[in-house]
Amino acid sequence: MTHPLIDQLTLEEKASLVSGATFWTTRAVERVGLEAATLTDGPHGVRMQTAGADQLGINDSHPATAFPTAAALGSTWDAELLEEIGRALGAESRRLNVDVLLGPGVNIKRSPLCGRNFEYFSEDPLIAGTLATAWVKGVQSQGVGASLKHYAANNQETDRMRISAEVDERTLREIYFPAFETTVKQAQPATLMCSYNRINGTYASQNHWLLTDVLRGDWGFEGYVMSDWGAVADPVAAVAAGLDLEMPSSGERGPKAIVQAVQAGTLDETVLDKAVSRILTTHDRLRAARSETGFEPQAHHELARRAAAAGSVLLKNQDGLLPLSPEEGGRIAVIGEFALTPRYQGAGSSHLNPTRLDDALTAIQAATSREVVFEAGFRLEDTDQEDADVLLAAAVEAAGEAEVVIAFLGLPDAEESEGFDRTHLALPASQLQLLQALRQTGTKIVVVLSNGSVVTLGEVNDAAAAVLEMWLGGQAGGSAAADILFGVTEPEGRLAETVPHRLQDTPAFVNWPGNEGKVVYGERVYVGYRWYDTTGQDVAYPFGHGLGYTTFSYSDATVTVADPTVAAAVVEVTVTNTGQRAGAEVVQVYVADPVSGVDRPQHELRAFAKVRLAAGDSQRVRLELDERAFAFWSSQGSSPGWRVEPGEFVVEIGASSRDLRHTESITLDVAVPPVELGAESTYEEWATHPQGQKVLQEFFDGLGEAGSLWRDPETAKLLGNMPMRSLLSFSGTTDIQGTISGLLERVAQAG
Ligand code: GLC
Repeated sequence: MTHPLIDQLTLEEKASLVSGATFWTTRAVERVGLEAATLTDGPHGVRMQTAGADQLGINDSHPATAFPTAAALGSTWDAELLEEIGRALGAESRRLNVDVLLGPGVNIKRSPLCGRNFEYFSEDPLIAGTLATAWVKGVQSQGVGASLKHYAANNQETDRMRISAEVDERTLREIYFPAFETTVKQAQPATLMCSYNRINGTYASQNHWLLTDVLRGDWGFEGYVMSDWGAVADPVAAVAAGLDLEMPSSGERGPKAIVQAVQAGTLDETVLDKAVSRILTTHDRLRAARSETGFEPQAHHELARRAAAAGSVLLKNQDGLLPLSPEEGGRIAVIGEFALTPRYQGAGSSHLNPTRLDDALTAIQAATSREVVFEAGFRLEDTDQEDADVLLAAAVEAAGEAEVVIAFLGLPDAEESEGFDRTHLALPASQLQLLQALRQTGTKIVVVLSNGSVVTLGEVNDAAAAVLEMWLGGQAGGSAAADILFGVTEPEGRLAETVPHRLQDTPAFVNWPGNEGKVVYGERVYVGYRWYDTTGQDVAYPFGHGLGYTTFSYSDATVTVADPTVAAAVVEVTVTNTGQRAGAEVVQVYVADPVSGVDRPQHELRAFAKVRLAAGDSQRVRLELDERAFAFWSSQGSSPGWRVEPGEFVVEIGASSRDLRHTESITLDVAVPPVELGAESTYEEWATHPQGQKVLQEFFDGLGEAGSLWRDPETAKLLGNMPMRSLLSFSGTTDIQGTISGLLERVAQAG
């Protein structure tokens, strides 16, 4: 629909509106009373810069709540919590007069090496799409727009502004698109941000198939598409492809090129009008929905604290070492610089200025009457050997005199960030060396990790009785750590990204980070647990894994298919808290398709629900599986799309991808879409086609003796895989194309 202002705007004014005015604002046109809009980062908190704009969070920004990063929020598996955080982010955006908050990031974690994995939710598109939908609904409830990013296939930082992601369509549709598709269909984000990279050779910023055919044609997106900052190579091609706003401002370069293109007739002015209309209509809609601008920083801090615990994953807890008693017991040695200097957010465009920052050491000291000592143990930056030795010796001495060690380890900022990828998955050598020395003391060790993406845990597992993965837990992560360690709250998280034993085991290992400007997604749909579970590979900790402080049983599971001719099922199971204290459980439902016309992963997460139960309580959990829970994307024939094949499916209910409590086979009797016959169709496809079969029979009958050969069942079986064009040439047909066309016409008439 054309915005009413369009007719009042000159060509030059319209061309200026599809390019930013500054680093963070769109253009105003005072002559017609059009205001500028302010766009700013980011997914974990509002980075409204005070002065001087930069892209990577170097300059100061107004204080705002630093919530846990997406890696932690992804581990909550809790859409309600994400919507609550979205509302808080929207309120903080309103207070700082931000019109569009540039998040959430939903790119799939193709490899743990990606420097920006801290900013993304999961290796699985269902988690990413479900949580992003909630985040967007929360932010937009305040009249602030979201910007779903980075669309699409931006799964590495290496050469991100030029590299071409070489991905087959089925892999895009099943793995890299669904988080965008789900969020667009269920939350209608005000904007989408296109990615820097090319997709199969064409920049996302000027990829008509991506920005118009798929995003608007298939999914019904109604907002506007902005570029990532500096992602537009050709402003005219970008507008023509469906990119509505080039950010940041390209000065007069973009507008001038667009005016010239319209005047030269190489860009249709109606295309420009559509882009301008989308921007103006979207901003009008946001302004009309604006909430009040107040919020209580302390309340948001407490929300961040709750969220940090909800996303913390207790990977190991040998002999129930955790939770520690806050009163009973001997000295606690807190070791590791991260206890004093928290690593709580990622580097780059999402980096912000928190309203306050809790360190774990202070929180631990406040939470217990037991004696607490602290040693840094290592430096966050490189230091000389003498200094390192002194730090280590002091830590070892403290550990030797304590009843329990809490070691705060993780990745320093220098190891992972927007803008570059990691080259290995190990913790820094200085920390591993420290851990080995601590292990020699014989004192029990709890390891608390702060890292944006997965680290290999071999040595950690060998040395520690308990391992708590807190990711980058936000400004209140230190307090959340103390809450968990002393049992004030439970670690509620479940892994949204598999922890492999080795980098070499990861699915993208031989296709990373690409060569000579191309990165081939050779693992196709086998990303994360889809790879490890299909190849039967052992992992350190599986997707969906996480321990709590209580236990749960699953009973009376049912899988109901109301009508086998319709691809849908209802899964129900009773979950009971069989432990001594309240706790949270994430019920996960996976679907397997053991017999299929295409290769498929061992199983795929198709539904999940988080439940919180008091000790002894039970809840009947109900989860629905829709058609897409059984479907795969088929690119075959002239009408590619989602296909469900009839036959057996296995529905698995579990507490992780490898802790399956109930599996049940179901049979779907859905209609088989007829194969689209053509010159390349095989004899078997013709002979089993509803109309083709009869037409073929009549054809061979018409050949008299020459056709008798094909009526023999053995022959049919022997030659079933032969394309018709070959069969016809064998039967002496001269005009093969003409014959096939004639047969196809008769099939169409019979249809
Ligand atoms: C960056 C990021 C994007 C961010 C934008 C503005 O390059 O890729 O996520 O929103 O620029 O800072």
